[in-house]
Amino acid sequence: MLMPEEAKKGYLWVNGEIKPWAEATTHLITHGLHYASSVFEGERAYNGKIFKSLQHTERLFNSANILGMTIPFSIEDIENAKKELLKKNNLDEAYIRAFVWRGGEEMGISAQASSINIAVGAWYWPCYFPEELRNNGIKLATSKWLRPDPRTSPVQAKAAGGYMIGTMSKHTANDQGYHDALLLDYKGRVGEASGANLFMIKDGILKTPTTECVLNGITRQTIIELAKNNNITVEETDIMPDELYNADEVFLTGTAAEITAVGAIDGHTYIVGDVTNLLRSEYEALVRR
Ligand SMILES: Cc1ncc(COP(=O)(O)O)c(C=O)c1O
Repeated sequence: MLMPEEAKKGYLWVNGEIKPWAEATTHLITHGLHYASSVFEGERAYNGKIFKSLQHTERLFNSANILGMTIPFSIEDIENAKKELLKKNNLDEAYIRAFVWRGGEEMGISAQASSINIAVGAWYWPCYFPEELRNNGIKLATSKWLRPDPRTSPVQAKAAGGYMIGTMSKHTANDQGYHDALLLDYKGRVGEASGANLFMIKDGILKTPTTECVLNGITRQTIIELAKNNNITVEETDIMPDELYNADEVFLTGTAAEITAVGAIDGHTYIVGDVTNLLRSEYEALVRR
């Protein structure tokens, strides 16, 4: 999705200071850029309130911690920074991007002497997928890339390096006329889309992959809770592609994608059914409560 021109009239919060968009820059010799020592969050504000803000900030700190980066601010500082930034940018409905990266004081694989930097941006960004597509269901193509073994890459860190295969997979899917990619994991099980978790429904039972190889999305956790509250049986379990191909309904969840119905995976088609529509409307009501 292209960056909206309007966003460039706004501000970012950078290491404790509010800066105009054009001045929120960093040097090109930066460890985060060269070695992917960078973690981030994607969040959304609805009616001026960031949905599950604290959970996102806690995940950011946890991701940084997994990569050995100690953020030189407190969780409370970042909570306040996000609020301050929304006000400064005059935003009620917004996408919020908080990110942490190593500076370029020490370049090379080891970089213990590099600074740890943190910034937050906020701008108006509608759902990842246009409304009509979300209603009718997007088309996914299975990628040749596999979500790695958790011993190969730290799955629960929302880290820039983890997105390399996501971008390659999504570009290939887009080139072939699909809207997004489905990544299987290193054991051939269903994983997730390039930037969203996946759920399937078969005979009224809601199933989603365990978090062994996929991010434990905050939207994923919310949907599991909403489903249980609506007496829908939820199973977090291994799903093989053949089982997914035979599903009745499939949808994606994520802060950016919100709840997006899937209409097809490779050649297999799905209806946009009652369970997807119920959970989507419950989610949309919850984020605005
Ligand atoms: C790879 C991946 N999986 C899942 C998700 C969904 O996570 P959340 O619901 O916390 O936004 C995201 C989005 O951040 C993602 O990038």
